[in-house]
Amino acid sequence: MIFVTGGAGFIGSNFILDWLAKNDEAVVNFDKLTYAGSMNNLVSVSQDPRHIFVQGDIGDKVRVAALFAQYKPRAIIHFAAESHVDRSIHGPAAFIETNVNGTFGLLEAVRAHWASLPDADKVTFRFLHVSTDEVYGTLGTHDAPFTETSQYAPNSPYSASKAASDHLVRSYHHTYGLPTLTTNCSNNYGPYHFPEKLIPLIIANALSGKPLPVYGDGQQVRDWLYVSDHCAAIRRVLEAGVPGEVYNIGGWNEKTNLDVVHVLCDILDRLSPKSAGSYRDQITFVADRLGHDRRYAIDARKIERDLGWKPMETFETGIRKTVQWYLENQAWVADIQSGEYLKWVDQNYSQRQGAIKAMQ
Ligand code: NAD
Ligand code: DAU
Repeated sequence: MIFVTGGAGFIGSNFILDWLAKNDEAVVNFDKLTYAGSMNNLVSVSQDPRHIFVQGDIGDKVRVAALFAQYKPRAIIHFAAESHVDRSIHGPAAFIETNVNGTFGLLEAVRAHWASLPDADKVTFRFLHVSTDEVYGTLGTHDAPFTETSQYAPNSPYSASKAASDHLVRSYHHTYGLPTLTTNCSNNYGPYHFPEKLIPLIIANALSGKPLPVYGDGQQVRDWLYVSDHCAAIRRVLEAGVPGEVYNIGGWNEKTNLDVVHVLCDILDRLSPKSAGSYRDQITFVADRLGHDRRYAIDARKIERDLGWKPMETFETGIRKTVQWYLENQAWVADIQSGEYLKWVDQNYSQRQGAIKAMQ
């Protein structure tokens, strides 16, 4: 049994769908169902007995401890976080609460669970912390990509909160010997990406005839990785990563934001042409993000060399699949835009409350 936090979000849900397609082992999916979590991402496994969904907050140590005692997971994969940089600028408190205090509460529950395991299980147990390349700050045009030994220099409340969580995880390995693994990944894209983030927002706005907002001059660079490649990397780190180590994960796909928006418009022009003109006509330059990091790039040679992982998708193949998925799943986006997806929050909450109370 593995225990996933944040499994109703973008990467977490892709991870669970991939995991259940490739393994017999069951997954406990522990998610608060904030605005970013949607049970619509998991409809295809809603009847699968190997997917056990529990709604709750990672900072709730008592609740998490009760679940660990019940399910005895051999590994925790920690995705749960507040993840959107713009939101962290306008309201940082939730980021400190979940990413810092929440991760701390989770680590405390994990430490107690790990200490209670038989010696043989202690050795094989893993806590895998999913983090971001943003903790390393920003790069100049000619700087070498971030490696695992790059200095931490987070620039947004989001990246600072993730950096703090990385340091807590590191300290639990160093101090208590907890078998932790940390991954720092570049920008993901693919199915179930919440339409507040650049790629899904541009696709959704393009199809609804709205402006396509490009921050500042659009020359900021991000290193894009198709989400299923990230999921494969996490599975590989879980399987063969060395406790206490950090692995950078990236797709060697540096693109300016404007280039990404152009590519999206051009694919949409081919797959879903407008009656007149190009989607590029909707591009609108808007005020820049405060403290906007100019460039991220990941040096992924460690995970490639030590664990034999390599991305399967190029940016060209991944972005085509992504646009195709959004064209075929416009109802998924419409449910989010209308707020309909939030109906799950109450249904599941009340169902699960009873089950958890009975367990405690
Ligand atoms: P997301 O915002 O799509 O999903 C986050 C999930 O966590 C949601 O389902 C939400 O309900 C849940 N959650 C939030 N607070 C919680 C809490 N207190 N308790 C329990 N569940 C809670 O995020 P994502 O894009 O899927 O990112 C997942 C992880 O990967 C994050 O830790 C993020 O920092 C990291 N990451 C993301 C990217 C990316 O490009 N999206 C890249 C590198 C690293
Ligand atoms: O690098 C990894 C990080 O990637 C993750 O840790 C974060 O959780 C994830 O959200 C992502 O952060 P970014 O800030 O890079 O992603 P976002 O999609 O918000 O923005 C990508 C770039 O596009 C960034 O330079 C800002 C720009 N942008 C974004 C939006 C939403 C625009 O120009 N217009 C927009 O409307």
